[in-house]
Amino acid sequence: MPLRIIQYGIGPIGSAIVRLLLERTGAEIIGAIDIAPDKVGRDLGDVVGTSPLGVPVSDRADAVLARRADVVVHSTSSYFDQVFDQLLACVRAGSHVVSTCEELAYPFRKYPELARRLDEEAKAAGVAVLGTGVNPGFVMDKLVLTVATVCQRIERVFVRRVVDASQRRLPLQRKIGAGMTVEEFRAAVEAGRIRHIGLPESVALIAAGLGLEVETIAETIEPILADADVTTPYLHVRKGQVAGVRQIGRGLAGDRERIHLDLQMYVGAKEPVDEIRLFGTPDLCAQIPGGTHGDLATAAVVVNTIPLVVQAPPGLRTVLDIPVRFAAAF
Ligand SMILES: NC(=O)c1ccc[n+]([C@@H]2O[C@H](COP(=O)([O-])OP(=O)(O)OC[C@H]3O[C@@H](n4cnc5c(N)ncnc54)[C@H](OP(=O)(O)O)[C@@H]3O)[C@@H](O)[C@H]2O)c1
Repeated sequence: MPLRIIQYGIGPIGSAIVRLLLERTGAEIIGAIDIAPDKVGRDLGDVVGTSPLGVPVSDRADAVLARRADVVVHSTSSYFDQVFDQLLACVRAGSHVVSTCEELAYPFRKYPELARRLDEEAKAAGVAVLGTGVNPGFVMDKLVLTVATVCQRIERVFVRRVVDASQRRLPLQRKIGAGMTVEEFRAAVEAGRIRHIGLPESVALIAAGLGLEVETIAETIEPILADADVTTPYLHVRKGQVAGVRQIGRGLAGDRERIHLDLQMYVGAKEPVDEIRLFGTPDLCAQIPGGTHGDLATAAVVVNTIPLVVQAPPGLRTVLDIPVRFAAAF
């Protein structure tokens, strides 16, 4: 029997997930939820760019969730407190949840009370809830822990992810401030419009997974300036303007740094890379030259995780609880 799946949130990421699900014989999409007026009432296939699927997009979440899918794939928003009621509704409908909500990747530090409530409700309903994706969910946390398997002990972790945003879609280039002046960038940061969400969650996942003592998690965000003119398919960024963003997440024990995550996303990045350095016994360095493609990887991580979440113990889970696997048979 294929797993019955509802897609909740059909932006670019939800659409990529749906298209990948259609390739897996173990999945049957039985419902679609979104509130965007230009999507409601249309066929899901029409919205995600495939042939018709006979599944209308609805903004009536409760009615769709009442069909009790095995799994709800959730991709509406980044903040745990904002999606809490959506997740609760999925759980109360009796469905497992895999979500791309960044803060759901490790909500226990920032939202202990909400996390406890969701965990209790999920256990009562006998379902598992997981936040995952490429970052957080894999490159700067789960992959680090996977590589760490071959170390005997680890003192310190350094991860660097450099993303060339030139070929990514316009909303992403805007989200990182490409083309802004430094003053505009700082104002946008202040207003909360520029920020990758999820670095503190990745720090927390690494600390929990490696058993590293981390008392505080600190985060900084700075502009990266273009050192030459850059033209993308959408924007022209002049030398000296903001090319993108550099965010650093640090896990500290006292004033000693145990975890350092360096995320750089900018147009014109010459050497995109995902790099993991572990300092311990032995020291280890792992690199993915060119880096990991964010959107393709997010859809892959989510879809490959679905059959594993169904088998996970009920409750609010993290990627620490879920094996790494390509789900070919799904
Ligand atoms: N963990 C990771 O590695 C990872 C990777 C990629 C993306 N993400 C996150 O995943 C989420 C989805 O990404 P995206 O690029 O597809 O985002 P998006 O462009 O904002 O699309 C989200 C869709 O969900 C709809 N929506 C919002 N609130 C809703 C609600 N209450 N009920 C039903 N539908 C609702 C939106 O409608 P409106 O447009 O009308 O608001 C939109 O159609 C984002 O938060 C993104 O940051 C995480």
